[in-house]
Amino acid sequence: MATYDVIIIGAGPGGYVCAIRCAQLGLKTAVVEGRETLGGTCLNVGCIPSKALLHASHSLHEAQHNFAKMGLKGKSPSVDWKQMLAYKDEVIEGNTKGIEFLFKKNKIDWIKGWASIPAAGKVQVGDDTHEAKNIIIASGSEPASLPGVEVDEKTVVTSTGALELGKIPKSLVVIGAGVIGLELGSVYARLGAEVTVVEFLDVITPGMDGEVQKTFQRILKKQGLTFVMGAAVQKTEIARGKAKVTYKLLKKDTEHEIEADTVLVATGRKPYTAGLGLDKLGIEMTQRGQIKVGKDWQTNVPGIYAIGDVIEGPMLAHKAEDEGMAAAEQVAGKHGHVNYGVIPGVIYTTPEVANVGATEESLKAEGRAYKVGKFMFMGNGRAKANFASDGFVKILADKETDRILGAHIIGPAAGELIHEVCVAMEFGASAEDLALTCHAHPTYSEAVREAALACGDGPIHS
Ligand code: FAD
Ligand code: NAI
Repeated sequence: MATYDVIIIGAGPGGYVCAIRCAQLGLKTAVVEGRETLGGTCLNVGCIPSKALLHASHSLHEAQHNFAKMGLKGKSPSVDWKQMLAYKDEVIEGNTKGIEFLFKKNKIDWIKGWASIPAAGKVQVGDDTHEAKNIIIASGSEPASLPGVEVDEKTVVTSTGALELGKIPKSLVVIGAGVIGLELGSVYARLGAEVTVVEFLDVITPGMDGEVQKTFQRILKKQGLTFVMGAAVQKTEIARGKAKVTYKLLKKDTEHEIEADTVLVATGRKPYTAGLGLDKLGIEMTQRGQIKVGKDWQTNVPGIYAIGDVIEGPMLAHKAEDEGMAAAEQVAGKHGHVNYGVIPGVIYTTPEVANVGATEESLKAEGRAYKVGKFMFMGNGRAKANFASDGFVKILADKETDRILGAHIIGPAAGELIHEVCVAMEFGASAEDLALTCHAHPTYSEAVREAALACGDGPIHS
């Protein structure tokens, strides 16, 4: 067997990016992946397929609701579900094949199969034991289970089943008003399903800016989603191809039932470490089953590192990628770094929702004096022209120094706009720095500048 500088376990965005960076740094690199294709959760059953379905269903929505207003008349398109799924699969294939190409280009070996770590420096795949100076675990995550809820991936599904349903359900119950529930709930609502979201808390998307949560929920309700809030799901039952969901309203202490063609369980994900043999190795774990790492992403066992969903922090592809690059640098004797204070989060609904840095709630809890600059997309000419004037940009800046502490955007292209603020934050910019930067007209990004102006003497267009 060949001896490697690095063997990475898992070819998701954490693992494959780490491998490419290792190869760029001149390290002999292999990746073990048990799945048939590279790309991990993200490319196979996560980010990419969900965005394909969001794009297709959004296009349908535009045709149904906005085309006629612009003088584009004709029969509105009907949905060929099989073709929509085929389009989604083609998108997956194009992306996963792309990673195979990058592996070849960078001379990275793909060891096919499921890995375990019998000892530091050794990776077992089937009957073969491979040697490596460094091992990086990037084994990702899987859907968390819910007591009383049995998933069959047909009637009661996780996000994986929801990306390949046999047909579009007439009714869909989504358990959990988090990112997956709202993105995939939006897809099926646009495709005609009656969507009811059952959420344990009194707010959607926990942890997000409170004002964004309220605006987001109002907009989703307008789009036809129904919300049952403060409800703990007790169980699901399947009978004659339909599912019954029993939930308890926490405040009233009353039990209720709701029936649907399909139930999507979207109550979070958990780290995936099965079969790696971490117990035997004595690798320290958190109480939530994540692998504990130090500042250099090394575990308590020298030479074994971990990155991505399997360690602490937000379960996001770009967070995994950044850790992959940084861990590669560490292994190569350089100084890899991730700025955890500037990791954007985006929900790809329409409108999009994006955030970075502190929320008003977290700043209040910290007792930090801050100011708020807010600008509604209603005052943005481009947004008005494109039927996208719902939402706002909100920038939070330090009251004394004007340094940008966070930003929250709900509106058109929020997932792109947020990066202007990310770059500004990386450079330690003040809101005034953004406000003094010329922004092309007419663009959505003018709304970011206006929010920055609102941190000072005030915006121009409101
Ligand atoms: P993963 O992508 O989970 O990859 C881990 C890989 O390791 C898998 O391929 C697995 O087969 C392999 N593996 C595990 N154990 C072994 C073993 N013992 N041997 C060999 N191989 C092994 N994030 C975003 O940032 N943006 C989004 O829009 C987004 N959308 C999402 C939509 C959905 C429906 C879901 C489910 C997730 C989404 N995410 C999104 C989250 C994102 O997919 C994850 O954060 C990301 O994939 C984590 O990357 P990773 O490399 O840590 O792990
Ligand atoms: P989540 O953590 O975003 O949301 C789970 C929701 O379920 C929460 O609102 C929670 O309060 C609720 N919940 C928990 N238990 C419940 C119960 N018993 N009854 C009712 N509600 C309950 O998790 P989700 O949506 O499953 O996503 C998993 C991960 O995938 C997230 O961490 C996210 O980062 C990632 N992801 C990211 C995307 C993006 O970046 N656009 C898209 C999809 C997923």
